[in-house]
Amino acid sequence: MTTTPIPAFPSGFRWGVSTSAYQIEGGADADGRAPSIWDTFAGTPGRIVDGSSGATACDHYHRHTTDVALLADLGVDAYRFSVAWPRVRPDGGCPVNPAGLDFYERLVDDLLTAGIDPVATLFHWDLPQPLQDTGGWLNRDTAERFAEYADAVAARLGDRVKLWITLNEPFIHLSLGHGTGEHAPGQALFLDALPVAHHQLLAHGMAVAALRARGAGPVAITNHYSPVRPVGDTEADRAAAAGYHALHNRLFTDPLLGRGYPTGLTTPAVRDGDLDVIAAPIDVLGVNYYNPTGIRAAPEGSPLPFDLVELDGYPRTACDWPVVPGGLRDVLVWLHAEYGDTLPPVQVTESGCAYDDRPDAEGRVVDTDRIAYLDGHLRAVHEAITAGVDVQGYYVWSLLDNWEWAEGFTKRFGLVHVDYDTQTRTPKSSYTWFRDLIAAHRAAPRR
Ligand code: FCB
Repeated sequence: MTTTPIPAFPSGFRWGVSTSAYQIEGGADADGRAPSIWDTFAGTPGRIVDGSSGATACDHYHRHTTDVALLADLGVDAYRFSVAWPRVRPDGGCPVNPAGLDFYERLVDDLLTAGIDPVATLFHWDLPQPLQDTGGWLNRDTAERFAEYADAVAARLGDRVKLWITLNEPFIHLSLGHGTGEHAPGQALFLDALPVAHHQLLAHGMAVAALRARGAGPVAITNHYSPVRPVGDTEADRAAAAGYHALHNRLFTDPLLGRGYPTGLTTPAVRDGDLDVIAAPIDVLGVNYYNPTGIRAAPEGSPLPFDLVELDGYPRTACDWPVVPGGLRDVLVWLHAEYGDTLPPVQVTESGCAYDDRPDAEGRVVDTDRIAYLDGHLRAVHEAITAGVDVQGYYVWSLLDNWEWAEGFTKRFGLVHVDYDTQTRTPKSSYTWFRDLIAAHRAAPRR
């Protein structure tokens, strides 16, 4: 880690942290919530490495006051959380469950009282199970149901949420949830999953219209981006890398920014007028970045036209993901170069790492690796800003250690350590580091 201070960010730059509903809330049966696809998936033997579920998680549903106090002490400008669709519309469609909205209203009001902007993601992968039972994202009707749900949330909170994010990482929900089956709903459809991409995008576009009709905004979508590095130097390796880049980085962004689908990635699910709905203007593009992806040509008989390969030569996190801060700069600079004036302002809505953090003999959690990780990634964001990219915020994933999907409780991403037996929260060294960094930049922003 370099010892020179991180350069000043522009005034107005948003400092934040992110979480998602199923990963922290618990309260799985509370106040009328019904199961989501993640409850079903976690209840299926062999799907989650430690056999756990998010049924209790960090018990944030009952402890949000404690967690808002942690956010206030941290001094963030904004807190990105997700609303659980199965709390608000447990059947997926009608009726609305007012008690589910009450929880988010309490959270939003407490955040505002603490001077923190609420940033609400409407879909962070927890589809109501009844909608999966009628086809989930393979069924076009799910997009209509999503717009109705967005309307219900906006009707209650449209006057107080400061940034709306329709979907979180539709690419990961497509690829791991429906392509390989490693995530809920556990479908291994490979490229036959493409209608899932289209219906998520359609849902996004319809939700943008629903939010705007309620006067709610600004509106964003959050995508997952990964610079693609060809591994191998044959023509087939380079073609595989280009194909994977289109799938990972352009499949969602091209139609959102008015270009339609990349060549070869459209689907018969597209109907007249859909692309206009999808390309409705957005105010912010959310960028989540964790690592680059190595790609080479697919081996004989593979169901996919590319092969994912480990990238050697980098330090690795506890998830075994390579630590490559420059990849975040590359992604931001690529978005700016590729989409030019059609690219809205960007916010980095997730960036973070898992390490095997444990309290020491004095009860402190000294996570020097995480501080170095965040330091490097913030410098990369700064380089992108210097290169002309309009990056307006950076959110650390995550506030709390939490339930990391198929990895269960085995991966800790938090600035705050959580003891899942006692629900004790212990701010790690990275929490103090981030708090001091925010305070220093607030005191001396660039004009
Ligand atoms: C992202 C997800 C988030 C979390 C981090 C580690 O892909 O959006 O929920 O799992 O990865």
